[in-house]
Amino acid sequence: MSSSDQPASPSRTTMIDGMTFEVLIDEQELAARVREIGQQISRDYDGLKPAIVAVLKGSFVFLADLVRSIDIECTVDFLVVSSYGDDTKSSGVVQISSDLTTPVEGRHVILIEDIVDTGLTMSYLLKNLESRSPASVKVCTLLEKPARLKVEVPVHYKGFTIDDHFVVGYGLDYAQTMRNLPFIGYKVG
Ligand code: IMP
Repeated sequence: MSSSDQPASPSRTTMIDGMTFEVLIDEQELAARVREIGQQISRDYDGLKPAIVAVLKGSFVFLADLVRSIDIECTVDFLVVSSYGDDTKSSGVVQISSDLTTPVEGRHVILIEDIVDTGLTMSYLLKNLESRSPASVKVCTLLEKPARLKVEVPVHYKGFTIDDHFVVGYGLDYAQTMRNLPFIGYKVG
C-alpha cells in the first residue's frame, strides 16, 4: 500500500476560538505528505516544464507548500471556480469565474485541487482543459472522499483519503471561513 492510500491517522480534538475540532490530519502530516508529492512530481516531470494549474480558492495553501517542494522548472496559473454556495451542499453546477491567463496548448498540465468530493468539479475541469489541446493533463488532489463520489475521476497524485466529513482548514472553508486553520479537521462543537 502506498502512503497516498493510507487513511489519515486517528483523530484528535483541539479547541480554537471557542470551537472544537476533530483533527484528521495535522500540520506535520500535511507537510510530510505534500513534500513527498512535490518530490514525485519533480521526478515525473523532469525536463517537461509542467503547467501547474491550481483550482481556487480551496487549493491555495496546498499549492503554496507543494510548489516549494517542486525543484524543476514549472509555471503556475489559476482557475477560480465555484461549485458550492455558502454551505456544505454542492450546487452541482461548476462555474469558472476567472480563467487561466496563459494558454495550455501543448503543455503538460497538472491540475491542483483541494478535494475530490463528488468528482463533478474535476470531471468538468478535465473536459474543459482537454479541449484546449494540452500535451497531457493529470490531477493532483490533497484529499479524496470516496464515499460521496458520483463521477469517476482519474487522480494521479493524492495526499489522503478521508471519511465522509465536511472538512475545513489548510485552505478548505465552511462558508468562506476556517481556511486559515493549519490542520485538516471538522467541527464537533
Ligand atoms: P466536488 O465537485 O463535489 O468534487 O467538490 C469539489 C469542491 O467542493 C472542492 O474543490 C471544495 O471546494 C468543495 N468541497 C467538497 N467537499 C468539501 C469539504 O469537505 N470541505 C470543504 N469544501 C469541500
